[in-house]
Amino acid sequence: MAGTDNTDSGAIAMRRVAISIVIFFVLAGLLFLLGPDDFYPWAKAIHVIAVISWMAGMLYLPRLLVYHADAERGSVQSETFKVMERRLLRSIINPAMVITWVFGLWLAWKGFGFQGGWLHAKIAAVLCLSAVHGYLAGAVRKFSEDRNEKAARHWRIVNEIPTLLMIVIVVLVIVKPF
Ligand code: HEM
Repeated sequence: MAGTDNTDSGAIAMRRVAISIVIFFVLAGLLFLLGPDDFYPWAKAIHVIAVISWMAGMLYLPRLLVYHADAERGSVQSETFKVMERRLLRSIINPAMVITWVFGLWLAWKGFGFQGGWLHAKIAAVLCLSAVHGYLAGAVRKFSEDRNEKAARHWRIVNEIPTLLMIVIVVLVIVKPF
């Protein structure tokens, strides 16, 4: 029955996330309708908030995988990690990535007409970050089916990639070196 309870609370959590996302986009739409000319800084603020949430998850998830790789299969610890990883991915990382992309692309179109070497390089770096996101999502699925074959050391190395990409992305957008 514990499994059923877990599934139920997971479904409730997902419904809450879905409702929050709908409310969020309705509020953003209202802000836009109330003042389309003033919307750019609001969109930038929303973009940066989403970026912080996405990055928080992208830095924490591989750290969980490091510990999970060392936990015994079927142990209470391992099952707890599965729930933590799934919830982190579905309720924070996935929605934050979607919001980052939606508002980032809008800013790129509205503010820069998709022009600029720094912007093209930034989009390329964000595509790499999204690929790491996809890789981590696949890892969460494998861990949830007890099919992980990689050692903790592998996840420790993966843990560094989002940090490096984040540094590149932030320097590109703030310094705009080319
Ligand atoms: C999904 C693709 C993305 C696109 C197309 C995009 C595009 C943009 C654009 C056009 C701006 C406005 C720049 C300005 O007004 O000077 C911006 C702001 C910003 N972006 Fe992104 N972005 C994306 C993802 C990210 C990611 C992943 C990060 C960090 C890891 C990030 C960090 C920032 C920061 C910190 C700002 C504020 C910069 C400032 O106000 O000077 N963005 N983004």
